[in-house]
Amino acid sequence: MRILGAVMATAAMAGLAGCVAEPDASGATIYADNCAACHGAGGMGDGPMAASLSVSPPDLTGLSARNGGTFPRTYVMSTIDGYTRGIHFAPDMPEFGAGDLGEVVVVENPDGTGTPIPVELIALADYLETLQR
Ligand code: HEC
Repeated sequence: MRILGAVMATAAMAGLAGCVAEPDASGATIYADNCAACHGAGGMGDGPMAASLSVSPPDLTGLSARNGGTFPRTYVMSTIDGYTRGIHFAPDMPEFGAGDLGEVVVVENPDGTGTPIPVELIALADYLETLQR
């Protein structure tokens, strides 16, 4: 019985390892559906809703430029999921973390620890990185 249990556990783990988490939608689609209304189709901060907001949506094509030339991936992802927002942050931008951002995968940090991140948040950050000028 013991051996059989081990074999079954191994088979179950092999099945899990073969399952690669993929986002349901591409970063571009997620952006167009959830962000473009404010930040603009190209990320320039000129979406149709921008004029009616109390705080203008920042130009997302300048995230790297404003961060010394490096794409601020962690900042971007935590801003989107609402994790690091202080109470001074404008309430205009909705938090998406409470919504469904897809399956959560554990991404390895440079120090070897892991951070659980929803796959669609990663896709969105990847897409924003492509918009940097
Ligand atoms: C309802 C309008 C609105 C929507 C929708 C929206 N945002 Fe925002 N976003 C804002 C506003 C306004 C700010 C600036 C808030 C502040 O600085 O207080 C902001 C700030 C940001 C920032 C920080 C930029 C910086 O320069 O510090 C990022 C990154 C961002 N948004 C990404 C996104 C993404 C990605 C989406 C879609 C998932 C999204 N936003 C959807 C209005 C919006």
